[in-house]
Amino acid sequence: MPLKTNTTDAGGNGVMPPSRFHVQPLPGANFGGMVEVSGIADARAAIAAAEAEPETLPAALCEARGFLLLRGMGAISEDPELLVRLSRLFGPEVEDYNQTLVKKSTVHPEVPEIFIVSNVPPAYKAPPARPNPPLTEDGKLPTRFPHRRGWHTDQSYRRPPPDISLFYAVQASPKGQGQTIFANGILAYQELPPELQARVDGLVGIHSSSANGRTEYAVRAGDPPKDIQPHEAPQRQPVVRTHPVSGENALYLCEAGQMDWIDGPFVGLETGPDGEGGKLLYEIMQHYTRPEFIYAHEWEDDDLVIWDNRSLIHSATWYDGDAVQRVMWRTTVRGNPGNEYAGERRSWIPV
Ligand SMILES: [Fe+2]
Repeated sequence: MPLKTNTTDAGGNGVMPPSRFHVQPLPGANFGGMVEVSGIADARAAIAAAEAEPETLPAALCEARGFLLLRGMGAISEDPELLVRLSRLFGPEVEDYNQTLVKKSTVHPEVPEIFIVSNVPPAYKAPPARPNPPLTEDGKLPTRFPHRRGWHTDQSYRRPPPDISLFYAVQASPKGQGQTIFANGILAYQELPPELQARVDGLVGIHSSSANGRTEYAVRAGDPPKDIQPHEAPQRQPVVRTHPVSGENALYLCEAGQMDWIDGPFVGLETGPDGEGGKLLYEIMQHYTRPEFIYAHEWEDDDLVIWDNRSLIHSATWYDGDAVQRVMWRTTVRGNPGNEYAGERRSWIPV
């Protein structure tokens, strides 16, 4: 899947230099691209080159069905603003996390567009639990639901939801730990069995922040939900989203930790973990996470991955938080959610 490069400008009036960016298929996946930049070794220069041809990387992301990997982006650790500059190429607005529903301790102190995912205080977040059993029968990393849990698309409990996430490894976990696993909702939608497709078309999910206490786990444990403000309320989202750039349909839903398991997970279906809706969610998720739709990223320091939340879900994996310090930076880009959300106010901003 080499990236198509334009050699004439938009008006056809002249010859443009060939792109410096080349995209190779992502090894071990049926989607995604690995970006190489010719003649440039340093991430600072690579980001400047991306700014000089601002349509190249967003087009490559779309062509690669929502996932790109760039290695060796270490200059970002010294100058975090570089990550924000690169993020700006992917949409109208790079989110300021001081205005979203996250804990202040997880916002970068100097660059509020950066959300810190780390087990190092003050941002501290414990690593995800290990699956049970930790490996599959053939000794591999479990990726399929429900053996693998934690599948979500970032901040889907807001309307309009964000478009794209950029995730950068300041300090990666060792190989074999702390991978991020991705499932491609475009491929999964295209391969839906007809019976399941008939049930998801037109279906609406109810998404909720795990902080609201409406997760499958909380409901099963009998824990009372948190009293929430209107701007924290669960939000409805279509289970099938049409991508605003490619026009492709993708599955769009989360599982235990980011749906509303009290009034949902789906509008109009029997509620709760053992209801008709919960059973359908399990069925969809088992399909969505089939091996042919999966990519598991083993992180190295200075890796940057870019994914489209409108068409992919992802899940974090366990790492040994007692022995390992892991520091990751994320930005999110919003502003192009599709016609479904046209003209809507931001649900997460208090009125
Ligand atoms: Fe996430």
